[in-house]
Amino acid sequence: MTNHQKAIASVFYTLLISLLPLKITASLTTVAEALAKWSLSPSLPSWSLTNHINLCNWDALVCDISNTTVSKINLSNVNISGKLADLDFTSLPHLTLLNLNGNRFGGSIPSTIDNLSKLSFLDLGDNLLEGTLPSELGQLRELQHVSFFNNSLNGTIPYQFTNLPKS
Ligand SMILES: *[C@@H]1O[C@H](CO)[C@@H](O)[C@H](O)[C@H]1NC(C)=O
Ligand SMILES: *[C@@H]1O[C@H](CO)[C@@H](O)[C@H](O)[C@H]1NC(C)=O
Ligand SMILES: *[C@@H]1O[C@H](CO)[C@@H](O)[C@H](O)[C@H]1NC(C)=O
Ligand SMILES: *[C@@H]1O[C@H](CO)[C@@H](O)[C@H](O)[C@H]1NC(C)=O
Ligand SMILES: *[C@@H]1O[C@H](CO)[C@@H](O)[C@H](O)[C@H]1NC(C)=O
Ligand SMILES: *[C@@H]1O[C@H](CO)[C@@H](O)[C@H](O)[C@H]1NC(C)=O
Repeated sequence: MTNHQKAIASVFYTLLISLLPLKITASLTTVAEALAKWSLSPSLPSWSLTNHINLCNWDALVCDISNTTVSKINLSNVNISGKLADLDFTSLPHLTLLNLNGNRFGGSIPSTIDNLSKLSFLDLGDNLLEGTLPSELGQLRELQHVSFFNNSLNGTIPYQFTNLPKS
């Protein structure tokens, strides 16, 4: 490399490194906004946008090891109500675990659940969900554990489940 190239490379690296934290903050803010907008009743006091800097400390959330994404949402048995369809799944591409077992979640399971492409654990059991299971559930390639037990769901199990690669 010539000195000129070295200078350009070093400017590039400096830019890259200074932009990295911005990108991380931006994606965590997106997740915080999506979760704060998910109207749950009763609401969780820590799930507040004024507290978005501490997203990894919000109740029921687990971040990845570097605190750059939310990887788990575990709201099991907290007697909460809400609608699954009100959660913006597109903001949670890194979610590996969603446990809503034992609550009063109602409405249907939205077909956009296929946006949770990293999901390996999905427990929606013991809720008030209704409607049919969307075939898009079959697109969740990483799923290893899934439960819809004790809801008012009808229809057939998506045939794709018979091909779950990791179960
Ligand atoms: C990640 O966030 C948690 C909770 O705020 C904190 O305890 C932990 O030290 C953080 N880890 C890193 C690598 O920043
Ligand atoms: C979720 O939270 C419950 C209650 O806090 C706990 O018993 C359970 O082990 C947690 N983990 C998973 C994977 O759901
Ligand atoms: C769950 O919440 C409902 C509605 O707020 C309430 O009527 C019920 O008593 C609660 N159940 C438990 C076990 O706390
Ligand atoms: C994700 O959600 C968007 C809109 O919410 C939808 O158009 C798309 O088909 C979904 N699935 C994937 C895999 O992106
Ligand atoms: C079914 O789920 C509800 C919560 O939605 C719970 O109160 C009830 O005990 C569950 N029934 C069984 C048979 O597990
Ligand atoms: C499934 O349930 C929905 C409402 O929850 C109902 O409108 C529909 O007719 C039901 N379908 C079947 C096949 O039972």
